Parts: sequence; structure tokens; C-alpha cells
Amino acid sequence: MSMKIVGDPVVVRQMVTEEKRAGKRIGIVPTMGALHEGHLSLVRRSKLEADMTIVTIFVNPTQFGPAEDLDKYPRTLEHDLALLEKLEVDAVFVPTDEMMYPQGFETFVAPGKIADRLEGKMRPTHFRGVATIVLKLFHLTGADVAFFGQKDYQQCCVIKKMIDDFNIPVEMVVCPIVRESDGLAMSSRNRYLSTEERRQAVVLSQGLEAAQKMLDAQVDTDVIPVDRVRNEIHKTISTASLAKIDDISIVDPDTLDEIGEIRRRNDDRRSAVILLAVRFGATRLIDNALVVFKKSEYEV
Ligand code: PAF
Repeated sequence: MSMKIVGDPVVVRQMVTEEKRAGKRIGIVPTMGALHEGHLSLVRRSKLEADMTIVTIFVNPTQFGPAEDLDKYPRTLEHDLALLEKLEVDAVFVPTDEMMYPQGFETFVAPGKIADRLEGKMRPTHFRGVATIVLKLFHLTGADVAFFGQKDYQQCCVIKKMIDDFNIPVEMVVCPIVRESDGLAMSSRNRYLSTEERRQAVVLSQGLEAAQKMLDAQVDTDVIPVDRVRNEIHKTISTASLAKIDDISIVDPDTLDEIGEIRRRNDDRRSAVILLAVRFGATRLIDNALVVFKKSEYEV
């Protein structure tokens, strides 16, 4: 069956209503286009877990602040569609701004404190725009399962909270970060880096690795102050002359609350998440890692 490309929300509704009546489980992969391997890994996962995969491509204006350049966001629709066709995606939903936000649109989702911190501090209306469009996409596509990348860790937390708080019957699957061979997390923004910036940008993943190595090396303590871990990351990132560190946050993986120390755990829950934001010239890169500080298997 060939891939359907649909722009009209009414047509998408009709299409999924028929598929759902036939008992199909609908998977969606929400994107803003400019697709790379990270997005494609979400599509492949959806193809495994759902009967029908819909990819949405929409550069959502409400998640851009007034100082952020919405017009400069990369738009590569033809290339994106070719990639999706190769993966045998069932349908691509590509609405216009007017279709998603018609004249008189005025209702927004207001995420709580999970959206105020970290990225939300820098971009105060960003997650309100993300939550609003994701809720609309869930409704329009009748999604049973939705796939998001861990790369946007806080975005995943905000959406998860919205799903829980609004009792939305959508299963959320968070897929691992896909990295270039040197460790740089894939991102639509990497294309803005100069050759030298791109070479140095590997320090983000190196910083995260250094933190995990530091935890692994602790044999005689069960508690490490986060400042020690932060200093280690800072030291690693600072080896790149072009890197300007915006943020190194070490927080609770579910609530994103600040923590003062990382404690050794003997369950499967991750001890902390480390979230980085580093600028190279005008390009702001983010990366993150869930860190493990576990009791050794040999300890009782
Ligand atoms: O992660 C993104 O690309 C966007 O924030 C999303 C989830 C598609 C909403 O516009």
C-alpha cells in the first residue's frame, strides 16, 4: 500500500476512524520535519509496535518564542517524504498553520511546574505550545501509542504528565537517543555547526560519559554531591574552546526537581538525569543521560 499524504485534519480523522474500526492499533510519531536518523528510529519502533504508523510533520508556531526564528527552522519536506516512503510509513499528516490554528483559536494546555524549570526558564511559552499541539495531534490521529525521543527529555516529562493528568488513553514510548559515530546526539540543529564547532561538539556526550565513569569509580561511598559530578562535566566540556555552557543540571529523573546528591540505589530506578545545554556560536545543543549509581551485585 502506498504512503498517504494528508493535509486536512478532517480527512485524517476519517482515515483513522476506519482503521480503528477494523481493530488497528494506531502509532504516531510527531515531528517538525527535517528528519534524521533519530526520527527514523522512532518510525521503525512504531512499525514494530503498531498496525498503522502516522508521522506528523508540522513546524508548530506556538512553541517558538518571539525572539526565536520560526522562519529559519529547516524545512525539507520532499526529502522527509522520500525517507518515510522508504520506511513504508502508512500515512504522513502535513497540516498548514491555518488548519491547526484557525482564526479565533484560543485554548491552550497550561503545563505545571515541570515545564517552568530548565528549558522552560529560557523559553517560557515553549512547553505550552508543545503540549497544546501534541494534544491536538493525539485527538486528530486517534493515536493508541506515541513515540518520542529521549533527546528532548523535559519535553517527554511534560507530555507524560499531560497524559497522566488528563487521563489520555495513549501509551507513550520514549526511545533512546541516536548518536553520530563520535557520540554527538543527532539533532536538526547540528547542520548549523561549522566544521570546527561540529568537531568540538562531541564534548557534550564526553561530559555525560565522564560523569557516569566518575560514579562507576566510587567504591567507598554511597552518596556523591552533585557539585562534584557537575565539576567533572564542566571540566570535560571546557576543553572545547568554542563551547559556552548554558546549563548543567543534575535532577530527579521523574519530577526534574533539583537534587543535592546522587545516592546509590538497589532498585532499577535511575539515580538522576543529567541535562546539558551548550552553545556553539549561535547554535544551542542539548543532550542528556540517565545515570546509574547502583549497589554492586556482590554487595549485600
Ligand atoms: O519534538 C518535536 O519535534 C516537537 O516539539 C513536537 C513534539 C513534534 C511538537 O511540535
